[in-house]
Amino acid sequence: MKNSHRIEEKKLKIGYAQFKPYFCDSEKNVKKIESLLKKKSWDLIVLPELSNSGYYFSSHEQLSNSSERAGDGIFTRMLLDISAKVGGYIIAGFCEKAKDNFYNSSFLAKPDGTWEVYRKTHLYNEEKLWFAPGDTGFKVHSIRFRNGVRVQIGMLICFDWIFPEAARTLALKGAQIICHPSNLVMPYCQRAMYARAVENRVFTITANRIGSEKNKNGKLKFTGQSLIYNPDGKKLAEAPLTKEEVRFVKIKISEADKKHLNKFNHVFEDRVVEKYYS
Ligand code: ACM
Repeated sequence: MKNSHRIEEKKLKIGYAQFKPYFCDSEKNVKKIESLLKKKSWDLIVLPELSNSGYYFSSHEQLSNSSERAGDGIFTRMLLDISAKVGGYIIAGFCEKAKDNFYNSSFLAKPDGTWEVYRKTHLYNEEKLWFAPGDTGFKVHSIRFRNGVRVQIGMLICFDWIFPEAARTLALKGAQIICHPSNLVMPYCQRAMYARAVENRVFTITANRIGSEKNKNGKLKFTGQSLIYNPDGKKLAEAPLTKEEVRFVKIKISEADKKHLNKFNHVFEDRVVEKYYS
């Protein structure tokens, strides 16, 4: 009886889709994603990096053929379409053509038909041959779910994880969930995201891909194990190493607002900024 008047916080259903994109075949990737997401309901889902194109390019022609302008190609239009039908938000990595450049970008599709783009800041290895470094910076987007809950979200892409400043910047700007489309090849990130979650006290969703790709320079094997951490570093979901998986968990977003570790320590207010980078 005592707590009967307390209003229960509404939960959000957030998740990832882990799969293997077809290399340089946007049409097949569109069909694949439509079939993975159909008949499902969610509030927020994150897909891997370069979900429209695959990863290991050998020529500008390949990039050109599988890239598109944000909001104006079959891939990003499909995301907007699904988002509107489901009433949830989608974040997916895609090969973007913009101005005269290609960017390794992440698209945020909103149910009202509008969208946002983040362009990868820290390019990894041969990505530097193909993509221009991201020029969007780290922005936080305020989104409102069907159930009325408002959430601040930020985007990183894959290798951005190794620069803790990237996640910290988003968290300092108010991000409560860090969405992280990935094509991970090194074995470190999945464990490191525990630290990104805990040190910023945010939720993290890493959506990784599976499978491998070859070109004349070698073979890349992607490491799966997509993950969701909560602000205490609890693993809420983890995908297998080599299998496709679409998975959701329910969260209370207010957990990301508790920045005190105890009565005396606050993860942001206790920073001694003047002692850093000197
Ligand atoms: C990576 O940033 N795709 C390793």
